[in-house]
Amino acid sequence: MTDTRIAGTGLFTPPQSISNAELVASFNEYVRRWNDRHAREIAAGAVKALEPSSAEFIEKASGIKSRYVLDKAGILDPERMTPRIPARADEDVSVLAEMAVAAAREAMRQADVRAHDIDGVICACSNLQRAYPAVAVEIQHALGVNGFGFDMNVACASAAFGIETAVGLIRAGSRRILMVNPEICTAHLNFRDRDSHFIFGDVATAVIVERNDGPPRGEAFDILSTRLLTIYSNNIRNNLGFLNRCERETGAPADPQDSPFTDKLFRQEGRKVFKDIVPVVSEMILKHLADQGVAPSAVRRFWLHQANLAMNEFIVRKVLGRDATREEAPVVLDDYANTSSAGSIIAFHKHRGGLVVGDIGVISAFGAGYSAGTVILRRAA
Ligand code: COA
Repeated sequence: MTDTRIAGTGLFTPPQSISNAELVASFNEYVRRWNDRHAREIAAGAVKALEPSSAEFIEKASGIKSRYVLDKAGILDPERMTPRIPARADEDVSVLAEMAVAAAREAMRQADVRAHDIDGVICACSNLQRAYPAVAVEIQHALGVNGFGFDMNVACASAAFGIETAVGLIRAGSRRILMVNPEICTAHLNFRDRDSHFIFGDVATAVIVERNDGPPRGEAFDILSTRLLTIYSNNIRNNLGFLNRCERETGAPADPQDSPFTDKLFRQEGRKVFKDIVPVVSEMILKHLADQGVAPSAVRRFWLHQANLAMNEFIVRKVLGRDATREEAPVVLDDYANTSSAGSIIAFHKHRGGLVVGDIGVISAFGAGYSAGTVILRRAA
């Protein structure tokens, strides 16, 4: 028996979704209007015409078919291409906390625990909607949890870092930690950027990590081991932050359609990310398994970060020495797109059926930083 286990998980999926065809229609209309407005400069060779996007490219390059979003209309409006998420009064629950609470309630039902059974809340995600008060403290308050809450950000690897942190807190004396991953990725995505406008979606996940000191109340997974890694890289960046208002030297954006923060939004060198991440993560999983005395062939399931289908296929192929089946390495990015820290937890939440007591699985999350984390689990009940 190990000293900690996962006792439940939860998922909040926004009710609206956008297909590749819908996204591309809006992007291409934006391109048509932009090129019309700049027709003279384009004809004179002063600016380059924008190129249209394609649904076929998106699915082939990424495996993504659609994404869930908080606001479909604002994203698809070619004059706006940004979700409409109105500011809320301080007295009202914030959007990020609301999503996390919905996921948390499901995780608590699954783990059969009440608010007073939880000692602390970790909000681990890529994009926190404010600096303070910590979103985790707001979630703690909304649920009626005693104890403490804090936020942490390790980009797409945040959930693995959150699980290891929860394990550490339990070893330091807490009984049970709620770890949530609310992600409003569409608010940091530049929907006018052809290279990346299709990448992200919105979602929230939750995990209950608890001390392993009694029989599990339902399906549970022992945490055999966790491991974390970071290697600095500029290949994925999001420069949105509180210093942006101090940095601007001229008031007006170059293009009236650009918001003052467009150049701060998500950007990446997608090919470099692909080339760098695949060996790092596959070697990390192999080394972690070897150190635990687990043969790769003994792993029944890989719940990987969901950014790019080919990247996941490469990683598991390197680990197993053969192609994995969809059952062994489940895919959710086709419906959800990249949901940053939540991706591997969505896969774990939706695709752990069929495992029996004693079966081993690996959660592996990776992304900007670069950052990566692995969690080796064994079905306990
Ligand atoms: N529609 C049609 N064509 C497009 C396009 C679009 N939306 N976006 C790019 N293209 C074209 C490019 O113009 C380029 O054409 P060229 O070869 O004639 O110059 C070609 O497709 C390849 O572009 P590139 O950007 O190199 O695409 P890619 O094949 O590397 O795929 C990603 C792009 C982003 C899907 C892929 O690199 C990726 O997912 N990498 C991993 C990123 C990742 O996981 N990031 C983690 C974030 S947390």
